[in-house]
Amino acid sequence: MVDQKACTRCRECIRVCPHNSLSLVENRICFDDSACFSCGHCRAVCPADAIGIGAVPEALELVSVADAAGSWWQGEMAIQELVALMRMRRSCRNYLDRDVPDAVLTDLVKIGTTAPSGTNSQGWGFIITSGRKEVEFLGALVGEFYRRLNKKAKNPLLYLAAKIFAGDALGRYRRNYCQQVSEALTAWETHREDRLFHGAPAVLLITGKNSASCPGEDALLATQNILLAAHGMGLGSCLIGFAVEAIRRDRGLQRALGMVDDEKLYAAIALGYPAVKFLRPANRRRVLPRRTRFFRK
Ligand SMILES: Cc1cc2nc3c(=O)[nH]c(=O)nc-3n(C[C@H](O)[C@H](O)[C@H](O)COP(=O)(O)O)c2cc1C
Repeated sequence: MVDQKACTRCRECIRVCPHNSLSLVENRICFDDSACFSCGHCRAVCPADAIGIGAVPEALELVSVADAAGSWWQGEMAIQELVALMRMRRSCRNYLDRDVPDAVLTDLVKIGTTAPSGTNSQGWGFIITSGRKEVEFLGALVGEFYRRLNKKAKNPLLYLAAKIFAGDALGRYRRNYCQQVSEALTAWETHREDRLFHGAPAVLLITGKNSASCPGEDALLATQNILLAAHGMGLGSCLIGFAVEAIRRDRGLQRALGMVDDEKLYAAIALGYPAVKFLRPANRRRVLPRRTRFFRK
């Protein structure tokens, strides 16, 4: 893994390794792989490019956008552009009748994987639903889940039993969402109005492995990368929590999606070319960060 001929013994790799997997022994860089989690920091800092990391691909191999990795160092990029991108990303609920090319969807997944992950486990999974026919079928499966749930929530006996045995979750659903969901189901049945995925031609599902150290965080960090990249690629996007809730609770839906037992869904992103142009960025409530005061100034 270390090209000893090219290595200049500068020890930068030893300094940055989070697990002390590298050491200098008899003027050679030695590598102990027992604790290494393949973060690649050693390779990233090596001025002689003398370190290789096993089977991990060198590039993202994006097809629809140029891969400019390595050209922006810390503090050397246009931060204004990045902040503007973050501010201008809005949830899109109006889409053109135009498919998103498969290469673009695959690139978005790859871009998602540039996110950090707990112990570099990269325990995320991605499921692409591409084309209106596929999306509508997924929507119908999700709709079926809510039809059953609404029936339960509206049945006084079942509602009472659920309240006694499972807390007030069903009550909260009945108070906050039942009516809205009923109307959405009717809108679909009567005039094919898609209030779930908003008519998007693609949906991307992001899952995490239960066995990973931080599956939820990993999946959601990848999700945010995808949302930002989608905006940069001219796509609109919208997180669909209603789909996440249904898929999480319905084993049949998970099976239909090919999800395995060790897998949990964390995000569903509707994607498509926008039929709306937001001219101004999102305004957010002011935040007041708190500060620790462990020491008096
Ligand atoms: C966890 C989560 C779930 C969401 N679920 C839905 C959803 O089911 N349907 C929808 O239209 N928007 C959904 N949204 C989008 C939010 O409504 C939206 O992010 C919020 O109103 C702020 O608007 P913006 O994204 O345009 O800045 C969801 C957002 C998040 C973070």
